[in-house]
Parts: sequence; structure tokens; C-alpha cells
Amino acid sequence: QVKRRADYQPPAFLISSVELTIHLHPQSTRVHSVLKIQRNGNHDQELVLDGEQLNLLELSIDGQTITNYEVTDSALVIPSVSNEFTLTTVCTISPADNKALEGLYLSNGVYCTQCEAEGFRRITYFIDRPDVLATYQVTLHGERKTLPTLLSNGNPVDEGINADGTHWVKWVDPHPKPSYLFAIVAGEFDVLKDEYITLNGKRVALELYVDKGKRDRGQFALDSLKRAMAWDEQEYGLEYDLDIYMVVAVDFFNMGAMENKGLNIFNSKFVLANPETATDEDFFNVESVIAHEYFHNWTGNRVTCRDWFQLSLKEGLTVFRDQQFSADMTSPLSNRIKHVRVIREHQFAEDASAMSHPIRPDEVIEMNNFYTVTVYDKGAEVIRMLHTLLGKERFRAGMDEYFNRYDGQAVTCDDFLSAMQTATDLDLAHFSRWYSQSGTPEITVSQKVSADKTWVTISQYTPPTADQQDKSELFIPLGFSCIDLNGRHYQDCEQKVLEGVLILDQPETTLTFDNGGQELIPVMLAGFSAPVRIKQGLSSEALLATFLYAQDDFNRWDALQQLYDWCITQYEINQSVEDKIWEGLRDALESEKNNYELLSECLVIPSFETLCQTRTNIHVETLHAAREQFAREFITKLENELKDVYHSIQLDSYQYNQQDVIARRCKNVVLGHLARLTQHEDLVKEHFNQSDNMTDSLGALKAAQHGHRELFKTLMETYGEQWKNDPLVLDKWFSLHATTERADILSHLTLLQSHPQFSIDNPNRVRALIGSFAFYNTSGFHALDGSGYQYLTDYLLKLDDCNPQVAARLVTPLTQWQRFDQHHQEQMRRQLARLLEHDGLSSDVFEKVSKSLAYE
Ligand code: ARG
Ligand code: ZN
Repeated sequence: QVKRRADYQPPAFLISSVELTIHLHPQSTRVHSVLKIQRNGNHDQELVLDGEQLNLLELSIDGQTITNYEVTDSALVIPSVSNEFTLTTVCTISPADNKALEGLYLSNGVYCTQCEAEGFRRITYFIDRPDVLATYQVTLHGERKTLPTLLSNGNPVDEGINADGTHWVKWVDPHPKPSYLFAIVAGEFDVLKDEYITLNGKRVALELYVDKGKRDRGQFALDSLKRAMAWDEQEYGLEYDLDIYMVVAVDFFNMGAMENKGLNIFNSKFVLANPETATDEDFFNVESVIAHEYFHNWTGNRVTCRDWFQLSLKEGLTVFRDQQFSADMTSPLSNRIKHVRVIREHQFAEDASAMSHPIRPDEVIEMNNFYTVTVYDKGAEVIRMLHTLLGKERFRAGMDEYFNRYDGQAVTCDDFLSAMQTATDLDLAHFSRWYSQSGTPEITVSQKVSADKTWVTISQYTPPTADQQDKSELFIPLGFSCIDLNGRHYQDCEQKVLEGVLILDQPETTLTFDNGGQELIPVMLAGFSAPVRIKQGLSSEALLATFLYAQDDFNRWDALQQLYDWCITQYEINQSVEDKIWEGLRDALESEKNNYELLSECLVIPSFETLCQTRTNIHVETLHAAREQFAREFITKLENELKDVYHSIQLDSYQYNQQDVIARRCKNVVLGHLARLTQHEDLVKEHFNQSDNMTDSLGALKAAQHGHRELFKTLMETYGEQWKNDPLVLDKWFSLHATTERADILSHLTLLQSHPQFSIDNPNRVRALIGSFAFYNTSGFHALDGSGYQYLTDYLLKLDDCNPQVAARLVTPLTQWQRFDQHHQEQMRRQLARLLEHDGLSSDVFEKVSKSLAYE
């Protein structure tokens, strides 16, 4: 069951072309396939084709029906074949019964596919691996009335009407591609059409397909697509390569979106957006996911992965590219902080769990479990470090070399690095360890002071992880500078720090400062230059000085986050926070009161998840209470200042532009604090009632969540009634309910499960209700008696029978039991054990649960 990276073998056969003829029918779609197959190399192995849940009706080779073959649960095996032949199969499948949303399925009356990673084998027999590249010709047949639109990859070349009144469309994709990029869509849509003309004057038709009646929510996605196309030409010299680019929004989707060649399929949540229904954050996400999928056309499709262990080759790189794009479209600072939060809250947690793996995993049971924050987001951080080390120009030169060498091929992470190596004198061999070593490196700092000098020693250490005991030192670009309490900056004598970056490629290194011998404040990790944890333990004075005097805004933000963390620790051990710290904090925030961007980030108190990362043996109730106490003190001490900020921000009618987004964010963050004081209830009400957009409405609701129960209840009723027929908005409402701290949360959730708009078959609904509860309702999920864990488990037992992929995602909070105290650990493990006993448990959930239980 376990597959290993080290066991890679080239495919025994290649498939050069695929001709599919598909007759769509809810329970019995007929897939007729003609494959041109060649033996790959000199061997006499049998032909093994992947296939799952297929009903095989016909099988022939070069026109001759054959009988010498074997069909298993997962394969079709033909013992003796010639070196080159044409294989024809006919199968039927049932899209209507496909609740796993992998392969071909029906989503709200629309047929669509999801083939990555291994879904194509649920459509027809194939060598379903990314290093088998073929050209595709696809003819779709369907009812004219219910399925007027019939789409597949590439260009439409012909169409017609059949004798029985149905119609057909034929598509040809000239670019050889792996099967995971195959897609079809059939249904009835509203379509937005546009055109993009590339720098070379090539005309590309753009088509965006949305549910009937949702046309007015599609424009922003379409405009985002054009911005992404222009950006990729500008920044990487990459042009689109087909005559048409299509994006389809569907309601039932396991993840965000999929980069199928020329025919992206999206979770409607990442396409549909207008000011009434989407928040600023939704707009941001639409633009970023549209760009991500578009960028895959080169990093993923033109140059693809040799095998799935190489997933980060395309995902890490494409996430890095979409992050660069978002930073250019919006603002570098808020983007950077957003990504750092993801790494600290989720990626570090993954490293510390039984699922720990390098960005290029070595062992996999179920590939779908490895679309992780490690592969994606830490993968992007590794690319970002390369970008830092090489600099913009050389990085681009390396990318050019990568495309020159590997266009049209299926390659590895090592191939990527070897292309990058041509652009730099640095020896990337040591750097490449980031690909094979898992875990979060820890950086510690110490100083020695003499009469005239100070020595600062910086060390790295990566603790063992569940998957890997032995670690070695990494090649780390460490943003570094040194200040003192008065804000003076110091350069080290040997100039080991160059342009603000120290290369840490040894277990430790020492910097010398000629500063008259006084304590310095090392400012570490400017820009979050590496995915590492800094263990520094600066005093509150030093943290405030860092905020006031450090050059880098990430460092400044981070200093206050550390200060908050320190204050919360005080409350955890029943100490108080001295007034002078509150005064320092007040002055610090006052000094940036017009810098809404930095201010709003600095006003966010670290999440429970983030706080978990700096603690072990966590006593949930104590930490949670300490965080609440800090939040309460925070607004009590800073009430006047925050009230002023709130009233200083005046916005006209809604517009999605950077300046407004930043101001709105600041205003809503401040409102969240004010709402904790009963005297500001009216402000929350007014904020809600006067809102002309979803950002402010949701801001008011989130604020009310921390305020008086009655107010929250009334606002939620109004909101729920207003949006009861809009599933995407209702998801926000489900999620607000699920994250509310109340004693009867479980019966409340049960009630919501029977809401007419809730359905276990729809991943967005399930994530909104059950996911929000498990990931973000601290007091409910971690209830002392274990009832929250049990609730999630009961649900997962049902969900796993229909949608294992989503079930495996939602089990994550339970698998991270290691960080909690004994009592919670036991309760969590009890539920994991229940899952493991479940009859017919999916391999998805099995992999995560069994690893988690085996972890000591
Ligand atoms: N390649 C897609 C993207 O990054 C995601 C596919 C996820 N597939 C999966 N089986 N989880 O946009
Ligand atoms: Zn991707």
C-alpha cells in the first residue's frame, strides 16, 4: 500500500494519443476509448492499465476482441501484447452516484471532472501517471436541452446533431499532457466572454462559465485572469499557448480549483464575487486562485511532474508565483504576513505531527493526503529562499533555463535545481537538503559582551520529526540586523551580513560587533526569510524597541506578536502585565495610528493556533482563558485610542481598491476589539446596519460574536434570513455559528445540519460547519469531557463513506493531539481509535489516523 519515491521506474508502456467518445448519462455514461500504445524499452512485461469503479463492456486490440485479460478492483491486466498497438475499450460509469467528487461527477446538474491526482482511472482504463504524456481528442455527446454546453481541453474543432436529437462537440488538445490534466464539463451556463491579446499579438478567447443567473458575479474573476496573463508575460516572459482559455465555476468541489489544460474548473467560491456577497478577502482569494491556476499552464502543464513525489515542483513554484503576483497587485506587507500566518499556524503544526514530511515526500499511501501546507506553502518558501539567494535577475535566468530545457517534459525537483544552478555560483547541493529534510529548524541566539565588543552567536538545530530521526544543518538565508534600545543600527565587523542577509550554513556562526561592549538586540528573520522558528526570548523592552526602530515591517509586526505572546504567558501563570508595558504598547501603536496597514496587522492578537506553536503540553482551558483575558485587558487599556482610530476611518461607498481594503480592514479589526465592551454594542449594530458590502457586514457579525449574546443572535437572524438562498454567503453564516463559543454548541450544530441548505454531499457546506468547528472553535472542540472530539468523529464516520478526501482533511485537528496535555491527548486518541476500527475506512483517513496513533 505504501509507495516510495526511491522505487520510481519509468512506465513499461507509453500512450501517445487518446481518442475518447463520451455519451453523457447520469447513471450510465458510456466512455469509448482508443489508445495508441507503445512498449517503452526492451522488456516483456504485461500491460497494466489503471481503472477503478469502471464497468468494462468491450475490449479489443488492433480491432480484434481479446479474451486473455484480467480485471481487478484497480487494474486491467493484459499479459501479452505486441510492441505497438491500438487498444479500444468501452466502459460505463455513474456520475450521479459519484459522491467522492473524483473522476466524472454531477454537481448541481452539471457534469464535471477532477482527475488530479489519480482520478482519470475512474473515467477509463489508462496508465494514470504524470510521466505518460498523450495528445487528446474528445467527442462529447449529450442532450441538447439540459447540456447545451459541452467542453473539454484544447480547441473545439467540430460539432453536430445526432439522429436521436442529441448533439455533440469535438475537442482537440494539441499539447501532449498527462491524464491528470484531462477535463470535461457539460451543462447549462451563463457565460462571460472576453479576449486577451498577448504581447506577440496572439488573440486568446476567454470564456468564464457560471451558474445561470450568476453572470453579475463573474466579472472580477475575468478581469483577474487578464491581469494574471499580462503579469506572466511581463515578469517571466510566458505567453499563453492555445486559442481559448476557459474557466468553469462549480458548486461541488473538493478543493480550490484545478488547472486542467485550457479548461480550469473552480470551486465557485473562488470565482463568484460581487460587493454584496463577497468580502475583500474573497476578492483577494479569487484573484489569487485565478492567477495560481493560470500560472500552472507553464509551471505544471508545459513542464509537468515525473511522479507525484515531485508535486512541489509545480505547486511550490506556482504558489510562489501567485504570491509574487498578489504582492504586486495588492501590497507586499499584508501578503507576507498572511503567508507567515499560514506557515506558523498550519505548516509548523504539520511538521510537529505524525504527518510530518519533506516538501518532496518519500512515502505515500494516498496521494490526495499530500496536497499539504508543507508541499504547497513551505514549498513556496523554499522557492522564495532561492529567489532571495539568487536575486531577481539570476532567478529569472534560472527559470528561463528551466523552460528551455524541460518544456514538454515530465521532470523532477532535482531537474529544477539543476536548471537553477546554471544561473548561480552558489553550490545548490547543500541548499537542496530543503527538499529531503522535514521539520522546522530552530534558530537560537546568544551574546557575549566584553569591555569593547559584543559577540552574537546564531545556531540552528532541527529537532527530529515523526518521519525522520536524523537531521543535518540546512542552508538558511537569515534576514539579520542589530540594533540597541535607542534604535542605533550596527554592522558586524567581518561583514558576514550582506544586504541584510546572513547565510547560516553551519550549525552555528558568530558575529563580532565593535560597539563599545553593550547588549545588542538581534533582529532576526527580516521578511520571514526562511521557514524557521526563532527562539530568542527578548525582553518586553527589546520587543518594543524592535517595533519602534527595526527597518523591516515584518520584524516590527512580529515583535508585537511576540510581546502579546509573552503577555498571554503572564496570564497563564497568573501574573499581571505591568502598566509600563501597556504604556509602551500604547505609544507604539499611537506612533503608527495613520499607517492603517501595519496598524491593523499589529492589532490582531495571535490566534490560539499560533500560540500553540510556542508551547508544549498545552492546557487548553488555561491558554484559552489567558488569551481571552489578554484580549479584554487590551481593549480596556486602549479603548480611547482604538475608538479614535475607528472614527478616523471614513469610507465612501464600497470599492475594491487597496487603499479602501486596508482602511476597511483596520476599521473592522478595531471594531472586533471594541465589541468586547458592552458600551459599544450600538456601534456594532450601526456598523452592521449601515454596511453596503459583505466585508463590513461580516466584520460586524464577527465583532458581535465576542460581545453580547443577544445582539449576536439578532444580527445572525437578520443575516440568515437575508441570505437564506445564497449558499456561498450562507457558508459564512454556518461558519459563524460553528465558531461561536456556547455551552450548547453541539446541539446547535446538530440543528444546523438539518438546515435545508446544508448537505453532507457538498464540501463547502461541510467545511463551513464541521470544519470551522473542528479547526477554530477552541472551547467547543476541546471540551474537557471529549464531546467535541466525539462529535467530529461521529461525523467523519459518515463522511468517509461518501467523500474520503474531505474526511481526511477534517480529521487533521484530531491527529495533532501531541501538543496537548495528557487529558486531552487521551480523549483525542480514543476517537482516533474509533475511526481506525471503522469497517471500510478509506485509505485517505486510514493513512492519517494510523500514523497519528503510532506516533509517540
Ligand atoms: N492542482 C490543484 C491546484 O493546486 C489542486 C489539486 C488538488 N488535488 C487533490 N487531489 N487534492 O490548484
Ligand atoms: Zn496548484
